[in-house]
Amino acid sequence: MPLSLVLSALDDPAAASEARQLRLYRLLKAAILDGRLAPATRLPGSRQLAADLRMARNCVLFAYQLLLAEGFVEADRGGTRVAALPLGAAPVGPQHPPALAHMLSRRARQLPDIKRSDTLLPFAPGAPDLNAFPWATWARLLHQAWAEVTARQLAYAEPGGEPELRRAVAAFLSARRGVACTPEQVFIVAGAQVALDACARLLADSGDTVWLENPCYPAARNAMLAAGLTPLAVAVDQDGMAPAPALWQSAPPRLVYVTPSHQYPLGSVLSLERRLALLAGVEASGGWLIEDDYDSDFNHAQPGARPLPAIQGLRPEAPVVYVGTFSKLLYPGLRIAYMVVPRWAAAGLGEGIRKLYRGGQAVEQRALARLLESGQLTRHLRRMAPVYRERQAVLRGALQAGFGDACPVLGGQAGLHLVLGLPPSVPDTALAEAALAQGIAPRPLSAYYTGTAPGNGLVLGYGLTGAARIPELVERLVRARETLEKAG
Ligand SMILES: Cc1ncc(COP(=O)(O)O)c(C=O)c1O
Repeated sequence: MPLSLVLSALDDPAAASEARQLRLYRLLKAAILDGRLAPATRLPGSRQLAADLRMARNCVLFAYQLLLAEGFVEADRGGTRVAALPLGAAPVGPQHPPALAHMLSRRARQLPDIKRSDTLLPFAPGAPDLNAFPWATWARLLHQAWAEVTARQLAYAEPGGEPELRRAVAAFLSARRGVACTPEQVFIVAGAQVALDACARLLADSGDTVWLENPCYPAARNAMLAAGLTPLAVAVDQDGMAPAPALWQSAPPRLVYVTPSHQYPLGSVLSLERRLALLAGVEASGGWLIEDDYDSDFNHAQPGARPLPAIQGLRPEAPVVYVGTFSKLLYPGLRIAYMVVPRWAAAGLGEGIRKLYRGGQAVEQRALARLLESGQLTRHLRRMAPVYRERQAVLRGALQAGFGDACPVLGGQAGLHLVLGLPPSVPDTALAEAALAQGIAPRPLSAYYTGTAPGNGLVLGYGLTGAARIPELVERLVRARETLEKAG
């Protein structure tokens, strides 16, 4: 192929941000790699090419020297020519991309999709009020932490987390959630998702059975599937996960994953009787209970009321991994969460975590420790509790008024979302789609289920939306339902 054609993309406006000498180097290298410039082809002298391209000769020399250093061209008395590349050097051309289905592992292909594009639209579940976050305080604490930074905080951090944050989390959990632990039992990780991934990979082997709630937090299911575990969907009722007693014998679990304070997404609270039964079951079968306490900090049962304390605190020596996150208390992009493991497992699990992950975010962790120790996080939570309680009450009232008795409103003892049950005549996926066209993003409840009899409803987050806007947004949902019914 003539060199002029190869270089015709040099002034492509789409690549304008790249320095021209780098672009020249990249275009020549690509053409050599895919054979458009055949071995032994002579390249023009640098002076000549610089004149042709109206660029400084130094720029051409820069590109040629880089190609020479990397072995794509050779220099001889006659100038510069394309080198003969070893067989197999040429990448597969973009016109023949391998089918993705063959490139992903079987486990990866199995993972159900988790929709994330609409997370900032009203009613999208998952996020707290990001505008209410105490930015000024956080910025000051970060600034302070950066001012004290040494090389140690910029290197890989302590794998279990910064010691001051481990201490602060242990004290916070003991005061608020009845978790009984020392700082050595607390491991700071980059999100609850990493904690779930660590549990799946460090506490179970590929093929082991994991009991999951049905419906279930999809990202937890994905962590288990990606680790090659065999999920068993256990139905949830108004008292949380409800395994038949015989299941302990017929399908003994290596892991049991529950969201006991506020089942995600239905919102039921795991009863004390069930908590004790799960503890007894995992102890007897040699498995582990994973307690995901993702949003218990906002309790709405009555003002000032505390949610049931953590299962971990019932029997601190039991095989329980307690998982919590700052995604709801602060903001999801922070990616700081924690897992609390039994005292007897701390050294072994700490070793496993060290082997799998690298610690980081030491500066953020120090700032967060101060936010906790100074009581400012507790004050923020106290400030937000009535705000979320009001939003929930307004949302509940508007849904009841707009949808009537045929559509029960479920959950809401804690957290930042409610569930609206729907009759079979209104399929939730269709209503969620119609709602999206109205600029609101509730999630279909059926998407959280495994099996052939999914629930039908909508999961509505209210963390992001002020109470004053909620009635109008629910009207949009009512309109979406009317549109759907007319079309059907
Ligand atoms: C059940 C459950 N666990 C954990 C999380 C948060 O996890 P992360 O710390 O990875 O943001 C969420 C977020 O929506 C959740 O719903």
